[in-house]
Amino acid sequence: MHKQIKQTTRTMAQINYEQEFKRSIKDPENFWMDQASQISWFQKPTRAISKEANGFYQWFKGGKLNTSYLALDAHIENGRGDDIALIYDSPVTQSIAKHTYLELRDMVSRLAGGMQRLGVEKGDTVIIYMPMIPQAVVSMLACARLGAIHSVVFGGFAPHELAIRIDDAKPKLIITATSGIEVNRIIPYKPMVDEAIKTATHSPEHVIVFNRKLGAIRPDGENDIDYATLMKIADPVRWTEVDATDPLYILYTSGTTGKPKGIIRDNGGHAVAMHYSMKHVYGVNPREVFWAASDVGWVVGHSYIVYAPLIYGCTTVLFEGKPVRTPDASTFWRVINDHDVNVMFTAPTAIRAIKKEDPNGEFIKQFKMCNLRYLFLAGERCDASTLEWAGEKLNVPVIDHWWQTESGWPIVANMMGFENHFEVKPGSATKPVCGYDVQILREDGTQAQPREEGYVAVKLPLPPGTLPNLWGDTERFVKGYLQRFEGYYFSGDGGYIDEEGYVFITGRVDDIINVAGHRLSTAEMEEVVAKHPDVAECCVVGIEDDLKGQVPLALAVLKAGSEIEHFQLQSEVVNDVRKAIGPVAALKKVLVVERLPKTRSGKILRKIIRAIADGKEYNVPSTIDDPEILSEIQNLFEGQMVGVFEKK
Ligand code: COA
Ligand code: AMP
Repeated sequence: MHKQIKQTTRTMAQINYEQEFKRSIKDPENFWMDQASQISWFQKPTRAISKEANGFYQWFKGGKLNTSYLALDAHIENGRGDDIALIYDSPVTQSIAKHTYLELRDMVSRLAGGMQRLGVEKGDTVIIYMPMIPQAVVSMLACARLGAIHSVVFGGFAPHELAIRIDDAKPKLIITATSGIEVNRIIPYKPMVDEAIKTATHSPEHVIVFNRKLGAIRPDGENDIDYATLMKIADPVRWTEVDATDPLYILYTSGTTGKPKGIIRDNGGHAVAMHYSMKHVYGVNPREVFWAASDVGWVVGHSYIVYAPLIYGCTTVLFEGKPVRTPDASTFWRVINDHDVNVMFTAPTAIRAIKKEDPNGEFIKQFKMCNLRYLFLAGERCDASTLEWAGEKLNVPVIDHWWQTESGWPIVANMMGFENHFEVKPGSATKPVCGYDVQILREDGTQAQPREEGYVAVKLPLPPGTLPNLWGDTERFVKGYLQRFEGYYFSGDGGYIDEEGYVFITGRVDDIINVAGHRLSTAEMEEVVAKHPDVAECCVVGIEDDLKGQVPLALAVLKAGSEIEHFQLQSEVVNDVRKAIGPVAALKKVLVVERLPKTRSGKILRKIIRAIADGKEYNVPSTIDDPEILSEIQNLFEGQMVGVFEKK
């Protein structure tokens, strides 16, 4: 029997959490001013929330601070310069490096000095396209130091995706590396940056390239600057004071169209939320070791590899590897053992990958993980068997929690910072985190009853740290999040709340899917599939997958007269998606159909396609145009027709 979260004093837990939660909702002004006093400001804010003329909320207006100062210098001033800030553990290069707060600050201030020499100033944008190496973290913090706005692009995205972000963010600089390392190959980052710049309309003034010396080709453009040389000649610089409301970063995430959304994160609200969440959600203490096994290209990496652990004064682990195959399913446990990790965070898919290779957890027995207190899981729905397996094998509480790129920190969780906690109900991320008034709304905006499924929304104002707007697209911000239910932020997820207040997230209600914890847009994939010369019409849906949670599946109708072989179409479409979006999209299957199931008004019945693919029951809507097509698709899935689809 695995270690359960303490149950004996559950009533106490409810009081603690509920009192704090109520206060955060009823009196957010004072609740968050109290939390703001936990971080160092150059000028303290005099109020927490301000409602702007356009109806948007801002946090800690008037406050002045610097996020890089909070993450580094503040600890050094407190005598902690020699404590380890960052542990870089890279099974793919078989290397480990540890950097103290002083060392990290020196690297950051020097790079910031170099960037300043290249003309980067407060308010400029900088794109970072790098693998999981310390220089990626240094680059983020160097931007923060200057008050420049970084936008990290995940390495698994193709040049085309990078180009879209270059044109939207219009960076003065791009910081990259010569290469990244995947399980079976070297990823040449620099040529991808060159290709993206060629495709984009906007041209950055310089590209700073960190040479990893791994043998990848490193073409030298005339505007390329060698990272190491820049570090040698640059003078370290101090932090620049920024307003609490100034943007710290833009992080692009998949939306329901082909164009990603640039989520803006501010400096002040973000720093307060990061600090608060480490203590209250993750139950971790300064000086402890926190490991988020994610990537700096995702929000989890921004918040819980870089900013939160460093602002809170923890040691953070930067892991360049995979849960399996680098070299095997023991890697996670080795890292926890070697670095005395206290609290870990990963995606359920990573645990599923390990479980598949080592179902009995034999590797776990080889390591001492006595310091590990909690394993947090997020990024996708957590299935009960993964939750139970991890709890039983690791003998620590496993905590599923729900959040989004938009929120930047957890919205629903079992908050470990309170003295006592709630009993876990598999399938639920537990209760709303302080500051988030989570409600389930019906189509017409009225509140759903307990257990009635509806749209998951959060009553405004959202707490600090959450998105104040979208980069350069206020209209999309309003349309996508605020207009659906007046006075609420609409999350895009469906779910329900039970009689005890537990929140269950049942999945997206839009065209976004989660593939191995990576958020992707099926609309974006559809745009690529539709461009194939033999495709007349298509749709892409996310179907269930044992390992990745969901994988995309394309259904294509061929143009009249097309004689393309199914297998050729599949291989071409798969390549097109890899090229346009990146390998991370993981589209592997294309099914050729005569027609797509639609309503009489022409809406594709994606939900029904998903249900058929997943072998679930579905109701045929009365508005369906041609019910016959459903049995045709059903037959394809059941393997009764010759098609390109291979059954899972
Ligand atoms: N740079 C370049 N390519 C990348 C990449 C990166 N940073 N990350 C992934 N890719 C590529 C992979 O090499 C793979 O390419 P392939 O199709 O040629 O093999 C493809 O993108 C899909 O990658 P991935 O989704 O990682 O699948 P996988 O089969 O290699 O590994 C898991 C499966 C489950 C082990 C892996 O997805 C995983 O560790 N997931 C955890 C995700 C996570 O932490 N998410 C963050 C949210 S908390
Ligand atoms: P991202 O913006 O990449 O963090 O993805 C956010 C989306 O992932 C959410 O809107 C959910 O659909 C899904 N998600 C994240 N965490 C969970 C969770 N714990 N349970 C269910 N879905 C989750």
